[in-house]
Order: sequence, then structure tokens, then C-alpha cells
Amino acid sequence: MTPQEQITQLRDELNRHNYNYYVLNSPTISDFEFDAKLRELQQLESAHPEFFDPNSPTQRVGSDLNAAFVQVAHRYPMLSLANTYSAGDVADWYERVSRSLGEPFEVICELKYDGTSISLIYENGTLQQAVTRGDGIRGDDVTANVRTIRSIPLQLHGDFPAQFEIRGEILMPWTVFERLNREREAQEEPLFANPRNAASGTLKMQNSAEVARRGLDAYLYYLLGEALPCDNHYDNLQQAASWGFKVSDAMKRCTSLQEVLAYINYWDSERKRLPVATDGMVLKVNSLRQQKNLGYTAKSPRWAIAYKFQAERACTRLNSVSYQVGRTGVITPVANLDPVQLSGTVVKRASLHNADIIAGLDLHIGDMVYVEKGGEIIPKITGVDVDARLLIGDKVGFTKTCPECGTPLVRDDDEAAHYCPNEDGCPPQIKGKMEHFVSRKAMNIDGLGEETIALLYDNGLLHNVADIYELRVPDMARLERLGAKSAHNIKNGIEASKQVPFARVLFALGIRYVGETVAKKLAGAFRSIDALAAATYDQLIAVPDIGESIAQSVLNYFAQDKHRQLIERLRAHGLQMETAADAQPTFTTLQGLSIVISGVFAHHSRDEYKAIIEQHGGKNAGSVSGATSFILAGDNMGPAKLEKARKLGVRIVDEEEFLQIIETKSYQQ
Ligand code: IVH
Repeated sequence: MTPQEQITQLRDELNRHNYNYYVLNSPTISDFEFDAKLRELQQLESAHPEFFDPNSPTQRVGSDLNAAFVQVAHRYPMLSLANTYSAGDVADWYERVSRSLGEPFEVICELKYDGTSISLIYENGTLQQAVTRGDGIRGDDVTANVRTIRSIPLQLHGDFPAQFEIRGEILMPWTVFERLNREREAQEEPLFANPRNAASGTLKMQNSAEVARRGLDAYLYYLLGEALPCDNHYDNLQQAASWGFKVSDAMKRCTSLQEVLAYINYWDSERKRLPVATDGMVLKVNSLRQQKNLGYTAKSPRWAIAYKFQAERACTRLNSVSYQVGRTGVITPVANLDPVQLSGTVVKRASLHNADIIAGLDLHIGDMVYVEKGGEIIPKITGVDVDARLLIGDKVGFTKTCPECGTPLVRDDDEAAHYCPNEDGCPPQIKGKMEHFVSRKAMNIDGLGEETIALLYDNGLLHNVADIYELRVPDMARLERLGAKSAHNIKNGIEASKQVPFARVLFALGIRYVGETVAKKLAGAFRSIDALAAATYDQLIAVPDIGESIAQSVLNYFAQDKHRQLIERLRAHGLQMETAADAQPTFTTLQGLSIVISGVFAHHSRDEYKAIIEQHGGKNAGSVSGATSFILAGDNMGPAKLEKARKLGVRIVDEEEFLQIIETKSYQQ
């Protein structure tokens, strides 16, 4: 290949990876590999200046522009940092800085938070604008969404400059990320690969209420402006902390390379205990005067550098690919590997996601493949060691038929996944639907778990969810692995499930895209299964947060006779098919309490809070009186109410505290 061909190929490749990373939020190679390719291209381009191209990936810092947001220019360009991966590189940088400055200097070591960067503009102490990085020159105005992030102050306190900009990272804490993915799994929505993608995806949502619900967090790490309070980075950030910003307390002031390396060493393992993802450290020269002297290259400051942790990766053999069938028929390809040790666990299987990912990797059976865990929950295959291929095995394609029932698979044009359409005849789909139906958040039938369902299904006692209500104790008791006692327990659990409220029955039906939250919204809006079954597309999408795909899926479901018949059978067995007019409280946490709601909230709407109060046995009262048990107070609670509450000595409970009460189901007077 000529250098020109090499350059073109690398540019194409990097452009594609940039697009996957910044636009689709779904990278297919690790940062390490990306950086290596980018460096290779940089070297080739500087050796061959005749092939300069202003549109080369080396000439820009990525783009996450989104047509739906207004784009605004950054006052100061948002540069990225040069990356290093070894102590040797860090030592080289330290040496370079030392030589250029020719005087003593301090280095501030910080954690490199792995989220999505944001620029915040404050004027006279109030947040004016929040802009994403975009291409570094212009970004998306996401102010409305950022306002919902609780750790970002809307109004500052203390002695702040009249105008300044502060930059930081928006993050989704691990616990929130895991909860979100569990919810998405239940709703059969694609999972986020890591908290970074989840945070940037959330920040670009059109619905800021949903953003608020997602529980994003933020750390601020860079103050910019004409009139900053101090002459060094560290003190400026401590000042910013005093105005109300969340600044990391893992920052350390170092005066020698040894101290810097000790910091790296310490946090390399300690970071695993943090509530948010980090992917390295950032080292910054402290003095602003020295920063200015060191200056910038075209893309990054010379006064700062990032040290990135290597994503933990292992290399092992691909033995075979098998296919799993989910309850809605989605086929997931799984790589079966020679067992290999990776980040403390033995990995034998890795997800291959879908046919496009397999094709992109050009996988062959017997290949040595790289497996990474990084921030991801399920290990994934990120590449093939082509040089290790001695004999080339069979190319991995994608199965054409269902591995469980042999039915030819289907794939919608605009979807990545293949499906087995044999809903009523494919065993894992039938069993999966029943498992979902009896699960805790659906009908919550004690005693009926995965194994018992399989046993009853294999013995011909269960074919679909309505059969559950026709199970007879003697038939079950006869099965060797069950016995009379378990059979009675199951029957009691089944009887109790007839009281489960309509919203959960709707969730239990397993309609595609109708997860727990969607089911609650539909049950609240339509109040009965008959009204929902009769709803038109327009009526469905008129419900807040119900979009096209959910609406279409609900219509498809009720258009099928077999589903209507199933519902009639369930109704005949006494399941709740409408929202009770005087919906009985599900819990008693707030029994006998009279609660007033005031102000605006971040996590739920006022109506949702009213419903939560009722669901927990409390009463919603309109105005504050001596009988008020407490006020659930959001932001900007009316001053009159506040005054009255003070006079009457009524307790004020904020949103977080209230959610704590609900979560722990305990209220102490
Ligand atoms: S300072 C000019 N500090 O890493 C200096 N960046 O590749 C600007 N990041 O775009 C950045 N933690 O999104 C800085 N403590 C930290 C950081 C940090 C994470 C991100 C940031 C930036 C990227 C640099």
C-alpha cells in the first residue's frame, strides 16, 4: 500500500469510528485502539504534508451535534487532552514541562471522569447556558436538560465573579446506570453499554422531565473567565466549590514526579470503589501564568495531559457461537470461549449483540479474540488477533432459523435484531412469557419460578399464562419434584395474584415496549383494558411519554384475536382489568397522614407524587392546617405556605427525604 492509500484508509476508518462514538454513542473499538490509529495517521500526515486535508479526523476533535438542539459557539474552544498510557509517557511530559518552564512548578492530579463534558455559563450567579462539547468550536444548547441535574447549582452563593464559564463532566452513577438498564431490559429496549453512553444519551433527550428522572450527576473541573479569583487552578476550583459547585475531593497538589506517580498508583485500584466511572487521571500545571507560558498545540494544552487506564482486556479462543431466544423472540448471539481470567472473574461467554456486530468483526471459528470488560456489564468481543490465525476456520454468519424451534427468523428493516416469529410454539418464548407474568413486579406469584414453570410446561400442565389460573393442586402435587405442600403454596399465590392492580396485570401481559412505567401510564390514562383495547393511535400517543413504537405495539397486540381471547380468560378468572375507582393503597407507609405538596420536583411530577401518596395510604390535602402531617416541598415552595408551616410547626420533608421514606417504607414522626 502506498502512503497515500494508507492515509485514505485510516481516515475512512477513523471517520467511521468517530461517527460510531460521537453520533451513535456506540463505539466498536476501545479508546486505546482508536488513539493508536489516530497517532499512526498523525505520523503519516506529518511525513507527507502534500496529502493535507482540512477534513481529516486529525483536524477535528469529534462531534456530537444533534439537529434537534440549537447550536451555539463556545466562547473558548473546548479542546481535548493528549492521552498517555504509561508511567514512562507521564515522566516524559513532566520532563518536557520542567524544561520549558525552567522553574519550580506544581502539578494538580485529578481523576478523569468518564461521562460527557459540559460547559456552563454563569452571569451574576445564575446559570445562563449549558452547552455540550460538540466539535469543540460549537456545541448543542442543552440548558433545559442540565437545569434538571441536581448537583449543578442554578443560583450561586458567596463571592463569585460576575461572568465566568465552568466546565466539567456529566455522569451517570453506577447504581443509576444499573437500574436504568434493568428497566430497559424489562421493556425490551436496547441496553446502554456503559454509563458514559447513558449520560450522553440522556443529556440529548428531548424530554427534560425524563432527564430529571434519570438522576445524572456532575463534577466540575475547569474554571475560565477574564476575572478569576485566584492565580492558580487549584485555588480557583476550591473557590468554585464554595459557590456551590461539586468539585472532586480527590484532587491533589504534587511537587514531584514521584508524588504524581504515587497518585496514579493509588487511584488505579481505589477508583473501583467510586460511585461513578473514571477512565484515567488528568495532570494539570497549577499556576495560570505557567499554563499561559506553556500554551497550546493545535488540539490540546501543553500544560495538561490525560493518563488513561488500559481497559482490562484478555485474548482467548472462540470455540463456537450459540443463539439465545428471549421471551419476545429476540435472538442474541453468544460467543463460547476458552475460559479466561478478566478483571477478577473467569469469562467463558461474551455477547456478540447482533448480526451487524458479527459481520463488522469478521469472525471465524477458532480465532483468537480480544475480550473486554471495561465499564460494560457483559463482556464483549472487541477484535480479532488476525496474526494469530494459523488455519482459518468457518466464517461466523448468523443463524437463519430459530435454534429452539427451527422457524425461519425475521428481521425488520430498521432493526438490528433478528426475531423468531413463532410466538406461540417456541418453548423459550412461551416459558419466558410465563416467567415474566409471574415475576415480582408483575403478578408476583410466590412459588412459581423459572424451574417450576419449566416443570409444569414440560409435563403439559401449562401452555400459556391463562392456564396458570386453571392449575389444580392434585395435578401439581403428583409431580415428583413438587409435592402437596408446594402445590398448595402455588395455588395460594395464584389466588392472591387476582388482587394485583390493573397496571401490573398490564405489565404482566408482556406487550412489547410496555414495561413497568409505561404500563402505569397507560393504566392511569385509560383506566381499563377495554378502553385501552379500543384506543386509537392518536389517543395512545396523546398520553405523555407514549411514543410511536409503543403505540404501534399496543395496537398490534390488541388487533390479534388470540390476545383478546387470552384477556377474556384472565378476566373470567377474576384478574383486575380496570383501575379501581377507590384504588386501595398498596402499602401503609403513610396511613392516616395528611400531606400537602408544594413546589416543583426533579424526580416525579406532582401528579405522580399524589399517586405515590395515595398508593401508600396517605391523603393529599390542598392547604396547610394544624392537621397537616407534613409538607412535601420541592424547589420554589410558595413563601405564604412556608410562613404558615413555620407558624403551625408543620414538618417540611424534601424530595430526597420523601423518596427515602417511600423506599424504606418507614415514616418516623
Ligand atoms: S480538563 C483543557 N479535567 O476528558 C483541559 N477534563 O480528553 C480540559 N475529563 O473533554 C479538560 N475528567 O470531558 C479535565 N478532571 C478532568 C477531567 C476531564 C474528565 C474529560 C473532559 C475532556 C476530556 C479530555
